[in-house]
Amino acid sequence: MSDATTDAAVTYGSYLKVDELLALQQPRSAGPEHDEMLFIVIHQVYELWFKELLHELDRVSLLLKGDEPHKAQHTLKRVLTILKVMVAQLDILETMTPLEFLSFRERLAAASGFQSDQFRQIEFVLGAKSDKAIARFPEGSRARAALHRRYAEPTLWDAFLQYLAREGYQVPPAHLTRDTVQPVEPSEDIQRLLIEVYRNDAKNAELCERLVDLDEGIQEWRYRHVKMVERTIGMKQGTGGSSGAAYLIRTLSRPLFPDLWEIRSRL
Ligand code: HEM
Repeated sequence: MSDATTDAAVTYGSYLKVDELLALQQPRSAGPEHDEMLFIVIHQVYELWFKELLHELDRVSLLLKGDEPHKAQHTLKRVLTILKVMVAQLDILETMTPLEFLSFRERLAAASGFQSDQFRQIEFVLGAKSDKAIARFPEGSRARAALHRRYAEPTLWDAFLQYLAREGYQVPPAHLTRDTVQPVEPSEDIQRLLIEVYRNDAKNAELCERLVDLDEGIQEWRYRHVKMVERTIGMKQGTGGSSGAAYLIRTLSRPLFPDLWEIRSRL
């Protein structure tokens, strides 16, 4: 059989598995309530974007390991563009009023974005790791296995520091061999080195700026999400069992790459 004949059998629907995709939106409310469809679709779309972000972030680390900063930057640009779309999509959910949400909220039971393992995977890749987050997923589940794997992997920041060391910067050995499950703590040594990058090395300064964009983009998503939560459920508890907006507000002030923020006032 020629390739052309084989290709002719592939259609839009079969390639993208459209039938399977369209069967995945299953409201739980009686009726069902009109707005539950939007709620399901938007969460599913987010999970797909999370999947794509992980796919691209893995590539950024790989490109840094391969000493290809320009390609890493190009991929980071894609990550940032996706993040912008993800933030903008919250506007759609904000067209749902508190009462429209309440019409089906009880059907969510304990389900919450809090339980999105892909969101936790993104946090892990970017350095915000937590073994407690892994323990929330059942033994033997896909989610738990994925989180275990991400937990053990070096973070994007580690890949960046290794890259800078290969570029000739004096990254202290303790940073290159650090226990990568620990949070990235601010470091005076790294800040000194980053100031040197910003002052004398346009190529790598540009790369640093894209990492700041990434950090800011994640913070932007968190901020917009918490505002949406406040306007939809006020200060009520979350379905995931946290204090709700009060918990989310506490996550706002934690930068992923603290050194890149610290140096701004000293440049
Ligand atoms: C009406 C819409 C929404 C409401 C009222 C809402 C509410 C909440 C609340 C209260 C929490 C805190 C955890 C809890 O106790 O449940 C939370 C966490 C979270 N939500 Fe939403 N959410 C909404 C939409 C979304 C959407 C569309 C996404 C996209 C995937 C999302 C993703 C997340 C994530 C990832 C967390 C965990 C954040 C963290 O722990 O830092 N949420 N949400």
